[in-house]
Amino acid sequence: MTKTALNPSSNKVPRQFDRQDWASGYCNVEKELNVVSIRPKKGKIPQELCGFFYRNGPGRVERDGNRVHHPFDGDGMITSIRFKNGEATLSNRFVRTKGWEEEEKAGKFLYRGVFGTQRPGGTIANAFDLRFKNIANTHVIKLGAQLLALWEAAGPHALDPITLETIGLTTLNGVLKPNEPFSAHPRFDPGHHGTPRMVTFGVKAGPKSIVRLMEFETEGEEAGKLIHNREDSFNGFSFLHDFAITPNWAVFLQNAISFNPLPFVLGQKGAAQCLKSKTNGKGKFLLIPRDSGAFAGEPPRSFDAPDGFVFHHLNAWEKDEKVIVESIHYPDFPEVGPQDDFLKMNFDLIPAGILSKCEINLVNQKVQTTRYSEQCCEFAMVNPHQEGLSARYSWMAVAGKPKGYAPLQAIKKLDLSNLEEFIWSAAPRGFVSEPLMVPKSNSKIEDEGWVLVLVWNGARCGTDLVILDAHDLKEVAVIELPISIPHGLHGSWVSEV
Ligand SMILES: [Fe+2]
Repeated sequence: MTKTALNPSSNKVPRQFDRQDWASGYCNVEKELNVVSIRPKKGKIPQELCGFFYRNGPGRVERDGNRVHHPFDGDGMITSIRFKNGEATLSNRFVRTKGWEEEEKAGKFLYRGVFGTQRPGGTIANAFDLRFKNIANTHVIKLGAQLLALWEAAGPHALDPITLETIGLTTLNGVLKPNEPFSAHPRFDPGHHGTPRMVTFGVKAGPKSIVRLMEFETEGEEAGKLIHNREDSFNGFSFLHDFAITPNWAVFLQNAISFNPLPFVLGQKGAAQCLKSKTNGKGKFLLIPRDSGAFAGEPPRSFDAPDGFVFHHLNAWEKDEKVIVESIHYPDFPEVGPQDDFLKMNFDLIPAGILSKCEINLVNQKVQTTRYSEQCCEFAMVNPHQEGLSARYSWMAVAGKPKGYAPLQAIKKLDLSNLEEFIWSAAPRGFVSEPLMVPKSNSKIEDEGWVLVLVWNGARCGTDLVILDAHDLKEVAVIELPISIPHGLHGSWVSEV
């Protein structure tokens, strides 16, 4: 591993990565561990770092010699790393979804995947099979007494936060209808209206799409209780993976995407492969008033968004008559077609994600866009205390080169006020996942804390947990984990369970 501090004008191209190192990070997780002690190979675990680092992602990507068509179709596996008094333990467990149990028993894929995985037997075996498997693989968060494994197209699975045992699909005490879509991207309001809350949404997509916005208590005896709820319908098909919050608004970007389900019905494509950028389509920002804010009860507002496609937002906040939204913009929707092998994809043809800021003027309806950096990035976050407020710093995963798409190999801290940046690089043989910034307890300094990141170490085909100082990305500790965790998705930090 190497670490470098760079500024925008002095980005250097690191040594080229080895594709096999990257591809080796898509493997099955073969074992489940229960509270195994883990120790740093380098450095020390900070005494003050106390809590649980949870991570979700695809843990089963192959059955009976057949590989998933896209890693997003892999079954969810939760990793939990508990830090206490300078020591750490690891547990990991697959989410026992109905589909996972059935396929484990059968020893083969029984379900089609949304991203193109087919049941064995070709098109005929898949045509008119419109069932889907809730794979619970996208995010893991704590709400009330339970951990929730999230997958946006269906309901959450409840897990025990200590043992990771699957309790089962949950309706959150009747808040959700059975298997109602529930986003995998909740946002945690740190206390814009007094107490902290979880704000989230669900989308019923169709020719008219219905967005349900929900707010839950997260602390005290009422933790997990629904306190606000509203539904709004929008014309057209909505693909909404993520959103952002401010004290008064829930901010969505409705990408200009169309959905033709016919190839899915005929067994030729997965449902997500039927999404396509609309020719000459225009995306829209949708601002839905929060029930606790100044515009409660008013209808949503809509504004033109820049061309391109957005999966993830960094943050949003309000200033005077403006709502400012920071997002990772792609020039187009990245597709993995039915004939494409994701392990052989041409990286040069994949659109690069660019962190940008859109200033939406609520009065004159104008939207002004500024690019923060030309370096391809993903999985960006601010200090959780700044969620929905103006934040000076952000932490993100970036490609191992200054321009164009490439696998994510470094962590960047970006000062959004002056574009000063620090980079910690895992190149050439390491590949990073989503960095998680954990603020130091009781600190008022925005960049005081740690950044936790799981790194696929191609040299040993295993996963390292790297702890960085959030201020300057200096390496604090490296722990070689006893399991190999495939390139993953999202995770969260919980101080106490
Ligand atoms: Fe996501």
